[in-house]
Amino acid sequence: MPVFELNTRLVWGWDAFHRLPEEIARIGRRPLVVVGSSAAGTGLQEKLDSLCKDNLGEVFIAGKGEPDLAMVNRGVATGRLFQPDLLVGIGGGSVMDTAKALAALIPNPGAVEEYFYGRALKEPPLPVIAVPTLFGSGAEVSFNAVLLDTKTMTKQSLRDPRLLPRTAVVDPELGRTAPQEPVVYAALDGLTQGIEAFVSRQANFFSDLFAREAVVRFGQALAGINRGLPLQEVLADLAYGSTCGGVAMAAARLGAVHGLAHPVGVFYGQPHGKVCASLLPAFMRFNLPAAAGKYAVLTAALGIEAYGDELDKAAALVKFIITLNRKLGIPLSWRDLGVKKEDFPELVEKSLPSGSLQANPRPVGREDLFKILEENW
Ligand SMILES: [Fe+2]
Repeated sequence: MPVFELNTRLVWGWDAFHRLPEEIARIGRRPLVVVGSSAAGTGLQEKLDSLCKDNLGEVFIAGKGEPDLAMVNRGVATGRLFQPDLLVGIGGGSVMDTAKALAALIPNPGAVEEYFYGRALKEPPLPVIAVPTLFGSGAEVSFNAVLLDTKTMTKQSLRDPRLLPRTAVVDPELGRTAPQEPVVYAALDGLTQGIEAFVSRQANFFSDLFAREAVVRFGQALAGINRGLPLQEVLADLAYGSTCGGVAMAAARLGAVHGLAHPVGVFYGQPHGKVCASLLPAFMRFNLPAAAGKYAVLTAALGIEAYGDELDKAAALVKFIITLNRKLGIPLSWRDLGVKKEDFPELVEKSLPSGSLQANPRPVGREDLFKILEENW
């Protein structure tokens, strides 16, 4: 029986960031604010300083890139000393995920490693306010935190419905100072997530509404960037698309692209959105027998000119993605993405347990993954 939940309070719009003190006050009095190391120099730090002074808060600066377990443990130590009553994550998906992980671990005993490898959270996590400054991950409305164990090269999610942010403050303006490359990669992640959620085995009528909207927003924004539109003109599409995509992903899960993208990203140190975009066309082709009808719906929603039957229209969507990738400099072959042939067995073994892989519309087994890797290398 499909169940659709939408429990995050959404504060959305240009200048929504100024509502943050008010939103913090609704929930608690001692915020631990997590920001990325790139927040310095964007003006965000100054805004935060005054915010924290008024709210008796503390700031934890997350490291660069994916949140690794050592960094999370450092944040947990800070948090257990400070004893916050809520977490605020301001940044990209990694920063918001760090905030969720700290919210989970500060009230629970032990190290993050135990929970990363399966221990259940006994005490309820602290409430989280998520404030995206990069748009694509949808982490502001999802209840998982993607973490990285650098010792075992494992990237997976800490997942608990109670990690869903209590409030998301989504202000397109916060994306204005980000450099173009991370903005584009985040959008490509968002586009991939929208497509995967839309065709997922766990998709339902309500998740489809959000997934389709995410695909349209990201597709339009990325096509606009390719036509030379300045980022500022597509920020609203990116911000709106991210939140819609996050809602869809939380409800419907993802697909095989995300199953394989995690180990590929970790093994070769490649940005998540770039990996997703590079893997996407091959898995869409693989999924055609199971998902052509739904891909055709997206072809129409994006206004892509296509004729013929569902398969023809679905193929037009794959072609649209390949053209987008080519223009954005995304590697068309996985060898160019850095993938090494000798790693195929380990990449496959790391992908197989993924929940994303299991939600793929067409069942994907070990042999399929080897074949897809061979064909697209
Ligand atoms: Fe993703």
